[in-house]
Amino acid sequence: MGQQSPPDRSDWWRDAAIYQVYPRSFADGDGDGTGDLAGVRSRLPYLAELGVDAVWFNPWYPSPMADGGYDVADYRGVDPLFGTLAEAELLIAEALELGIRTVVDVVPNHVSDQHPWFRAALAAGPGSPERELFHFKEGRGEHGEIPPNDWVSEFGGCPWTRIEDGSWYLHLFATQQPDLNWAHPLVRSEHEEILRFWFDRGAAGVRIDSAALLAKDPALPDFVKGTDPHPYTDREELHAIYRSWRAIADEYPGTRILVGEVWLPDAERFARYLRPDELHTAFNFDFLARPWDAAALRESIDSTLALHAPVGAPATWVLCNHDVTRTVTRYGRRDTRFDFAAKRWGTPTDLALGLRRARAAALLSLALPGAVYLYQGEELGLPEVENLPLDRLQDPMHFRSGGTDPGRDGCRVPLPWSGDRPPYGFSQDSTAEAWLPQPADWAPLTVAAQSADPESMLTLYREALRLRRTEAALHGDKFEWLSTVGEVLAFRRGDLLCVVNFGAEPVLLPEHRTLLLASGPLAGPAQLPTDTAVWLRVA
Ligand code: NOJ
Repeated sequence: MGQQSPPDRSDWWRDAAIYQVYPRSFADGDGDGTGDLAGVRSRLPYLAELGVDAVWFNPWYPSPMADGGYDVADYRGVDPLFGTLAEAELLIAEALELGIRTVVDVVPNHVSDQHPWFRAALAAGPGSPERELFHFKEGRGEHGEIPPNDWVSEFGGCPWTRIEDGSWYLHLFATQQPDLNWAHPLVRSEHEEILRFWFDRGAAGVRIDSAALLAKDPALPDFVKGTDPHPYTDREELHAIYRSWRAIADEYPGTRILVGEVWLPDAERFARYLRPDELHTAFNFDFLARPWDAAALRESIDSTLALHAPVGAPATWVLCNHDVTRTVTRYGRRDTRFDFAAKRWGTPTDLALGLRRARAAALLSLALPGAVYLYQGEELGLPEVENLPLDRLQDPMHFRSGGTDPGRDGCRVPLPWSGDRPPYGFSQDSTAEAWLPQPADWAPLTVAAQSADPESMLTLYREALRLRRTEAALHGDKFEWLSTVGEVLAFRRGDLLCVVNFGAEPVLLPEHRTLLLASGPLAGPAQLPTDTAVWLRVA
């Protein structure tokens, strides 16, 4: 069973297992087909039994949902679709009773176009103080008809929208997500208050959306490749912002953490956000971006540990989230290389192969030193839903690509809990239609079906998380590679070994050891088959 109360450790976050809840798709308590806080509250025992230390919630704030809630209209409330602020407070308290801390998502780069600040800015007109909170600018060309610069939206297309009075406003994401002007003191003080608001309500941390994008070159110049500093990514000004956030977090008891969503290909630059007076941790997207390949993953592990050590921050290990193709599907692709710019992987997909590798990847990532993030459904081995009806897609990424990018809805399909047909217990009302349709063949993937199956992905995750908690060898920093031949990774942490075979042929396991956990059946008593991982105790 799950832990009873959170261990009162100030360093809980250094080796935590943090479960990501996408509230729309976790559990629907009111039967309207969309997940909500009542649904999460009813499933807290599931999370406790799974054995996670904390839950990170994707945004639950009032939002027109132009980008799944990343278009926030009020940072101090809860969208009626999800419930009320009072329920969020209850949820935070009830989770804590079960030993689970709460991490909320803050979205500082942009607001919704329905946020009172942006509405006031539109109403106040050109040159007004209200507009200074955003990036409004005149266009180029004889009639100002050309956007102010040549930047490209993170979702594709032009990141400028022209309004009726002829001026343009900047939105690095969708049109409905105007970027804030972080050079303005009110933007800074407002976000400091938002942090306090959620820390006061018991949040144990915040996940910072698009953390490397907030600061812009005030001149908003054209983008010239290779220019340093970049006009809107990873600018020096960000570090002072996060230092002030860290000072606020440090005022609170019990260690409140700052977790950055920092997509930066340059590892050295990434590590600068993790200096002792800045963010506690940041997502390790390099690991998630690597193909299923021993050398590539070893290189990622080595560079990750090497870049975190000098700043004293723990590494994080991430296999998937609400923005990327689900692990089972991408590891089931023959070409598993990641296109960093498009945040997408190569071609289709052998799901049995993908599942075998995802099981091995679970044991690999859960054995590494540092914190680990699990995205809801990862513990069920859900695949990406690649054939959603076009008229049900919601992701602005899909629409802004002119339909060429499938978007991210396929990894956001509501969870299957029980039963043999949609909505698979996702919704309190068994006749409800989930906001995104669930596949007809998910009955074997439900929590109920997997709970009863000792061979299931869910059973593997439960057991791995239990051992991760109870095995002293898996705490702390110790880590040592063992020499291996062929496409095998093997490392030792105290008396515990993790061995993963990426090669085509079985490999012989070491002698004098006890098998603690295997991601799949062994080939004979001492043979580790292809795409399989084990945890062993050695004398
Ligand atoms: C990153 C979030 O993870 C993603 O879902 C969102 O679309 C963008 N930031 C914009 O907020």
